[in-house]
Amino acid sequence: MKIRDAVEADLPAIIDIYNAAVATRISTAQLEPVTVESRRDWLSEHSPDRHPLWVAETAGRVIGWLSFKSFLPRCAYRGTIELSVYVDEKFRRRGIARKLLEEAIAHASSLGVNAMVGLIFAHNEPSLRLFERLGFERWGLLPRVARLEGVERDLTIMGRHV
Ligand SMILES: CC(C)(COP(=O)(O)OP(=O)(O)OC[C@H]1O[C@@H](n2cnc3c(N)ncnc32)[C@H](O)[C@@H]1OP(=O)(O)O)[C@@H](O)C(=O)NCCC(=O)NCCS
Repeated sequence: MKIRDAVEADLPAIIDIYNAAVATRISTAQLEPVTVESRRDWLSEHSPDRHPLWVAETAGRVIGWLSFKSFLPRCAYRGTIELSVYVDEKFRRRGIARKLLEEAIAHASSLGVNAMVGLIFAHNEPSLRLFERLGFERWGLLPRVARLEGVERDLTIMGRHV
C-alpha cells in the first residue's frame, strides 16, 4: 500500500468512500451524499506542506484517505488540526487507517502541527477504538449536539499532542 498526496483524478474514489460512510449515520454529520463537483474546492483547500489530503492506494486503486484541516480559524489555533480518515468498506480491518494515522503523526511536526483532534460521534465505536489505538485520548464530549434519524447524538473530541 502506498500513501501519497491526493490529486484531482482521485476525487471520484474519495467521494465514493465518503458517501458510503454518509449512509451509515455513524461517521459524519453530512446527511446527504455529496457530489464530486461540490468537493472540488474542498480538495484544493488542502496543501501538501500545511494541510495535506492523502490517499492510500493499492494496485492503482484508492482505498482510503486522510485529511488535515484547520481546527478553528483564529491564529492561536494554528498548530492544531482536525483529522478525518475514511477507508473503503471492502478494505477495512487491514490496518489501512492505522497506517494513515501513523503517517499523520510522523509528519505532524514538519507540518507545523503540535496537536491533533478527531471529532467523532460517541456511537462511532470503530473510530474511537482506532484513535485510542494511536494514542489519542478523550479530551471532550459535546452532549446531544447532532440529530441523526431523529436521535440526538453526542460528539467526542479525541486529541493527541505531537
Ligand atoms: C474507522 C475506520 C477509518 C477504520 O479503518 P480501518 O482501516 O478498518 O482500521 P484499521 O484496520 O487500521 O484498524 C486499526 C484499529 O482500529 C480499531 N478498529 C478499527 N475498526 C474497528 C471496528 N469495526 N471495531 C472495533 N475496533 C476497530 C481496532 O483497534 C484496530 O486494530 P486491530 O484491527 O488490530 O484490532 C473505518 O471503519 C471507516 O472508514 N469508518 C468510516 C469513516 C469514519 O467513521 N471515520 C471517522 C471519522 S474521522
